[in-house]
Amino acid sequence: MTAVRPEPLSSWPSDLSAFAFEVPHSPEALLFESAKGIRLTDTTGRGYLDALSGVFVTCFGYDCEPIVSAVADQLRTLPFNPPLHGTNRPALELARALVDLAPPGITTAKLVNGGSESVEAAIRLSRLYHRERGNPGKVKILSYYHGYHGATFGSLSLTGRPDVTRFGPGLPGVVHVWPPDCLEAFWDVPAERSGELAAAMIERTIEAEGPDSVAAIVMEPVIHLRGMAIAPADYLARIREVCDRHGVLLVFDEIVTGFGRTGSPFAAQTFGVTPDILCVGKGISGGFAPLAAVLMGGHIAEVLGEKGGPVSFAPSHTYAANPMAAAAGLAAVTHFRDGGYLDRIAALAADTEPRLRALVEGRGTLRSIGLLYGLKLVADGERLGERVASACLRRGLIIRGQDDWVVLAPAFVTTPAEVDEILGTLGEALDEVCGAGR
Ligand SMILES: Cc1ncc(COP(=O)(O)O)c(C=O)c1O
Repeated sequence: MTAVRPEPLSSWPSDLSAFAFEVPHSPEALLFESAKGIRLTDTTGRGYLDALSGVFVTCFGYDCEPIVSAVADQLRTLPFNPPLHGTNRPALELARALVDLAPPGITTAKLVNGGSESVEAAIRLSRLYHRERGNPGKVKILSYYHGYHGATFGSLSLTGRPDVTRFGPGLPGVVHVWPPDCLEAFWDVPAERSGELAAAMIERTIEAEGPDSVAAIVMEPVIHLRGMAIAPADYLARIREVCDRHGVLLVFDEIVTGFGRTGSPFAAQTFGVTPDILCVGKGISGGFAPLAAVLMGGHIAEVLGEKGGPVSFAPSHTYAANPMAAAAGLAAVTHFRDGGYLDRIAALAADTEPRLRALVEGRGTLRSIGLLYGLKLVADGERLGERVASACLRRGLIIRGQDDWVVLAPAFVTTPAEVDEILGTLGEALDEVCGAGR
């Protein structure tokens, strides 16, 4: 049985006033010192098993040597290049590797620094595409209520969650639509019907807004902040058809689902639907550099330059396609492509999923696709996500919990013994918070 640790978990310096934390500072916050494999150590020497891959990032563990050496070599050779005067070799090679990993039809990659920038670029690209094709009025962007797309203003505007309204009105022209999961949760629509109904509602929304005014719809194939709401069968194919009928671009935000998470390189391949634009980030560098990319179909790239030739897309960012980040990305993507990871992911998922399902039985429901897991946990009307995540953390296990869900996304290098440890600790936390349940 894992020992439950007393709080506080780590020793903090007395003056913390200079640093702005992401979440309110609490006794549970950790001051990390080092990491190896999927294990982190804090400044007090306590260890934590990371079952979330950082936050869907460190898929190859915290010490993946091929990526570390690629970054170190690049820093010694060319740490930066004048971005207005050219680019660098790893950036070109990474763009090629990304396009080759993506579904056919995707031809071009623009490298940026993070997921939010990738979503911003997708918004700009969508509007530019229609303008260049003689439809400057197609500017509206549809996105989900309860999705998440980032913290910059455009991506935040697409994030249809009540907690972002405190920043005031978002980007003009953003229209929110309901995903199938919300139809099920809020209106008791049966799961077999939610995809069809949501797609029909999205089409009616496009018609009501005026198809001549709608540029794109941006969506996550698996919605993280709904506790991993997985797109129902045929739903994304229906959305593809709706988009094609109305000349609306389909943008997949695969910042969580990219790079093997759902069992294929991208969820686009898992679901068999190719979007016009694909936003990727997080696992793209394995956590060894801030990096993301927006991948686009040939028809989009064509408006940015010569057909089949080099394209340009400005304005950009000073650090976009930075050599160090590109070297990390190239090493990570090559490592993913050549390291037999899809087989490893399938084997890990086959071992983990039934055991996780058994753990959850009688206490909630499990959603799973590849190595992405969402557990919905409610008891006596109480939404237990945060309590379960906190009970895990006190036992040295990192997962994420909010509302009525917790999510796990184990690294692709998690060993069978580490899976045992993750499930054992999660089981104890569930016993503590939800009761024995079964
Ligand atoms: C689905 C999704 N899109 C976009 C983002 C924004 O990415 P970043 O935090 O790298 O800007 C995130 C981050 O969590 C995300 O989960």
